[in-house]
Parts: sequence; C-alpha cells; structure tokens
Amino acid sequence: MQKILPEKPEKPGLNLRGVTIYQDLLDRAAQEALLEDVRAMVRAAPLYSPVTPSGRKMSVRMSAAGQYGWISDRRGYRYSSHHPSGAPWPDIPQRILGLWERVTGYPRTPECCLVNFYTVDARMGLHQDRDEADLNAPVLSLSLGDDALFRVGNTTRGGKTESLWLRSGDVAVLGGSARLAYHGVDRIRAGSSDLLRDGGRINLTLRVVT
Ligand code: SIN
Ligand code: MN
Repeated sequence: MQKILPEKPEKPGLNLRGVTIYQDLLDRAAQEALLEDVRAMVRAAPLYSPVTPSGRKMSVRMSAAGQYGWISDRRGYRYSSHHPSGAPWPDIPQRILGLWERVTGYPRTPECCLVNFYTVDARMGLHQDRDEADLNAPVLSLSLGDDALFRVGNTTRGGKTESLWLRSGDVAVLGGSARLAYHGVDRIRAGSSDLLRDGGRINLTLRVVT
C-alpha cells in the first residue's frame, strides 16, 4: 500500500517566497489512494462548518485526524483532542504519515492532519499557522481535486505577496524562514480536476502540535 507513494522528491521543488512547492509529486493512483484515506477519515469525523471567533461562518468545511484537531469557534482558534461532536479524532492514516516522512524527513511525527474541504466558491484568507509549540517543525500541505490559487506573503502582515495555482497531487512545505509566512487561498478553479466526482478541493495540512 505504501508503495503507491513516490520516494523522496527527486526534484528540488519550486520556491514561492520560501515555501517549497513539489508539483505533481503524487500521481493519479496515489491521489486516489489518499482520497480513500480522506473518505475513511471523514466517515469517522464528519466535515463541519467552523465559525471564526467573531462568529463568521468559514467557507471551508473542516475535519481532522490525529491526537489533536485544529478547530475554530466562538471561543477562539485552538487545538482540541475532540471533534466538535465530542468524539475523538481518528488516527492519521499510515500512508499520510509516510508522505510526511518522505517529504520532510523531520524527526517528529505530525499530531494533526487537518482536512479542509473547499467547494468551488470557498476561499481562505491570508493567515499564519502559529498555534503550534514547535515552530522548527515544518507544515506540509497536500492538494487533491480542483486547482487552488495559493497566495504567500511575508512573516508579518502586509507587503508583497506572490501566488501560484496548486494542482491535485502538489505538495507545499512551509518550513525554515517561511514557517510563519502568511498564506491563503484566493479561489478555486471549478472543473479543473475530475478526482472528486462532485468537484471541489481537499487540502490536508500536517502539523506537529506540541
Ligand atoms: C490552510 O492554510 O489551512 C490551507 C491551505 C490550502 O488550502 O492550501
Ligand atoms: Mn494555514
């Protein structure tokens, strides 16, 4: 089962303001296998619609796997050991842990696999990932399904940004000087992939939390 994933990335990856983007890292078979893993995850921990601390409904739907899931609600942004329903999160599938090992080589295991599901009209505003204790650990982000216009800025608010279309099977790593880079998704390109029968995009984000 593990064989379906590529060995360590052969090519160095693109550099988008310090974020490393491995384009086409996963072939179609690997994408389909990971999609099965995501389906099992969301059967155990259904996608829900988070609200921001100010009460605005986010346009993405979320779930997670691992010891901790990142959640947002009226009480704030944080990691929680339980799905909002009260159930524990499922384990992170082995294949996804294997991807982390191969791509990052980081000696710690990710404790959260966040699942973001974007319908074609969903987006995500510029933000930093900074609710984790070990900021030496990189963040790995995987795209499945429709293309997403991914924007990266600086490690402080404002200033220049650059963007790039992430496609199904692409992997982005926020590490080193870009670990705290502002990033977000401006829009989804409807109909750009046939991986998901009803369209849309799945993003998996792996993080060490503690
Ligand atoms: C995120 O930053 O949580 C998601 C990024 C993405 O969807 O590519
Ligand atoms: Mn993020």
